[in-house]
Amino acid sequence: MTDKETLILGIETSCDETAASVVADGHRVLSNVIASSADVHRKFGGVVPELASRQHLDDILPVVDKALTDAGVSLGDLAAIGVTYGPGLIGSLLVGVATAKALAISADKPLVKVHHLAGHIAANYIANPKLKPPFLALVISGAHSHIVKVTDYRNFSILARTRDDAPGEAFDKIARQIGLGYPGGPLIDRIAQQGNSDYLQLPRIKFAGNYDFSFSGLKTATLNHINQLRSKHQDLPLADIAASFQTAVVDTLIDHFREVIVATGCRQIAIAGGVSANSYLRKAARQLADELDLELTIPELCYCTDNAAMIAAQAYYHYLVRDFADSSLNAYACLELGTAPAIDR
Ligand code: KG4
Ligand code: ZN
Repeated sequence: MTDKETLILGIETSCDETAASVVADGHRVLSNVIASSADVHRKFGGVVPELASRQHLDDILPVVDKALTDAGVSLGDLAAIGVTYGPGLIGSLLVGVATAKALAISADKPLVKVHHLAGHIAANYIANPKLKPPFLALVISGAHSHIVKVTDYRNFSILARTRDDAPGEAFDKIARQIGLGYPGGPLIDRIAQQGNSDYLQLPRIKFAGNYDFSFSGLKTATLNHINQLRSKHQDLPLADIAASFQTAVVDTLIDHFREVIVATGCRQIAIAGGVSANSYLRKAARQLADELDLELTIPELCYCTDNAAMIAAQAYYHYLVRDFADSSLNAYACLELGTAPAIDR
């Protein structure tokens, strides 16, 4: 740490990861601590919200302590505390928001509220500190699938979204059905590498006149095929199913992204969110960037899935314009990614 650096503590508790991180100047990660309650949820095949909130309560203070210790800083050294205030599981979000408010009040530091998806996008500033808006981001997670125009650091316009399932949700559902476990995305990614992606032809949905996504038909077609094989007592070719499904999801994401890039003429692109950890998607994004001669930023794997470094990175840009929250800050299960109010102080 140098004297001039702006240190921000980020806190993220929107789902089943309790995370805290100290980031300098919005991109230099000094610590990144994550306690996941995935083991608690594994036997249920998905996140149980009540159990996630309870685990956050147990983990949040040790995780924050470790983030400060690993970074070699104390609360007094911080410029601000940033926290995810939505969207996500309300009980989980509340633990992070209440903790951030208490720390901000006790240490007399400004509080910054961060939209979870803005945080995912900000993981790209960690990967590439030279990246500056405007750019287009493909934001794909367990609950969202958006093509976002990042007009400036705090302003976003959603150009496409899913009409039904998010890709991560579909990966998790298929993985559960074929007995791979939870979370399913990384497991499908792994076994798909040995599979034949032409094994099963799956629908790739397009709507006339816009770039929105739909993954429920693709998911149902995969599930129907699995059920048919099971009803005939046939073995499931797991790797082939995984490869066919993954290819159909990624092809759909990349095709729509390509159309939006061409329509907007944007030259800088990024990917973000848990599904951006997918190896086939990362490869396809690189091919797309080569094909259209674009500047592509891809977050490091550890900053694709939920973490607090991305929250601290985004909070930095709110800090710079003194876009602060006060102690009335609440958490929101549903929260649109949109336009920040102008700050006039
Ligand atoms: O962004 P994230 O950590 O949490 C949400 O904000 O939802 O995303 C989690 C999602 C899960 O559905 C998980 O299965 C998926 O990201 N995921 C992946 C991979 N790694 C995580 N999906 C496909 N391939 C991966 N390698
Ligand atoms: Zn996320």
